[in-house]
Amino acid sequence: MITSAENDLMCRVEGDAPMGSVMRHYWMPACLSEEISEAGGKPLKIGLVGKSYVAFRNTAGEVGVLDELCPHRGASLALGRNEECGLTCLYHGWRMGVKGDVIAMPSEPEESGFRKKIKHNAYAVKEWAGMIWVYLGDKKEVPEFVPPAWAPTADTKVSIAKIKIPCNWAQITEGALDSAHSSSLHSSDMVPSRVLEAEADESGWYRPSTDKNPKFRVEKTSYGYHYAAIRRPIKDADSHDYIRSSVFVAPMSVLIPPNKSYNVANVNVPIDDENTMFHFIGWGENCPDQDFWRKFLCAEPGQDINDKWVSKRNIDNDFLQDREWMKEGNYTGIPGIPNQDIAMWITMGAVAERSKDTLGASDISIVEFRRCVLEQAKLMESNPDEFAQQVYRKGPETIVPSWQGVVPKGTDWTSIEGRSKEKIN
Ligand code: FES
Ligand SMILES: [Fe+2]
Repeated sequence: MITSAENDLMCRVEGDAPMGSVMRHYWMPACLSEEISEAGGKPLKIGLVGKSYVAFRNTAGEVGVLDELCPHRGASLALGRNEECGLTCLYHGWRMGVKGDVIAMPSEPEESGFRKKIKHNAYAVKEWAGMIWVYLGDKKEVPEFVPPAWAPTADTKVSIAKIKIPCNWAQITEGALDSAHSSSLHSSDMVPSRVLEAEADESGWYRPSTDKNPKFRVEKTSYGYHYAAIRRPIKDADSHDYIRSSVFVAPMSVLIPPNKSYNVANVNVPIDDENTMFHFIGWGENCPDQDFWRKFLCAEPGQDINDKWVSKRNIDNDFLQDREWMKEGNYTGIPGIPNQDIAMWITMGAVAERSKDTLGASDISIVEFRRCVLEQAKLMESNPDEFAQQVYRKGPETIVPSWQGVVPKGTDWTSIEGRSKEKIN
């Protein structure tokens, strides 16, 4: 059990909180490419780890992420004019380029040289997998961008559902690492079926097990940890196990077990202590197109969520839960797998108080997540240089992906090699 102080240490990211510093040592998604798709188009205000920034694509097509407030006297650049290769502050006309250079300063005489002495805070950016990624840490030590495990190549097909959720990033991430809940919360959408492995079609996901009481195995890795949730399969229960293996990639990503057709991942970017940008990602050659993916998940802009990615389902309207539908047999009365999760996460409080939890054997992955996150936060708190060294020392790593399947009992779940040798069907 963790204490209230440890709960704050692992969850809070604002100001100089150690966990915020941990997050800033990694590349993270700032926004979707589609939000600033137009060169010279509307700039976008974004919140990341307790601070606000502005993202824009300048008239030359280059992407910039800058501190939101103008270096002159602090007006918002998100209202600025996107023109002549920079973002012009409306107040006195200072114009900042994507690298933070002040390229126009009409309020000062050019001959004073003042313009050239000023530099606005600009951050390293990378466009990849339909997202604008940013590095918010030390500008002198920007690590090389490493593609996420869910989009290893530039041409990986990726579909992203995005929702702004009014609660802390850690309880969302725990949800993605909590296999046991899927057998209850998502039981109307992840239906036990006589299939050989997890399958997906246009109306739901199917799994080859009715077992609501998975057994867990956990293994620590250099990038986080992974675990197996082991269930009795419907077929061959005496000789086989149904395994669903998930991966936590620190600090904010989860590789969720795939189905037969495509892979699934989750990235939870903290906006501040009490708000998170949740990304639910389908990827791989056969993953659904993005419009279908958002519709399937009931996370369709204009329909389920507004232009700020806020859901119409909220705590004040009971997430539009349909009790009649429940009487007819639906488990939650809430359509869309993420919407069911979101209702649980939000009702746990803005920052869930973990010192009051009652954990059981099915929470082993949750315990490992907390241990893993606290280890990072404590090292950052006690020895930030050592933490930075550890992050930067890591070379390219092979992340064992998430997987699922019905395999003979005793199969090594920790490596792809062991698994593919033994896997049936
Ligand atoms: S506050 Fe932005 S130019 Fe003056
Ligand atoms: Fe879930």
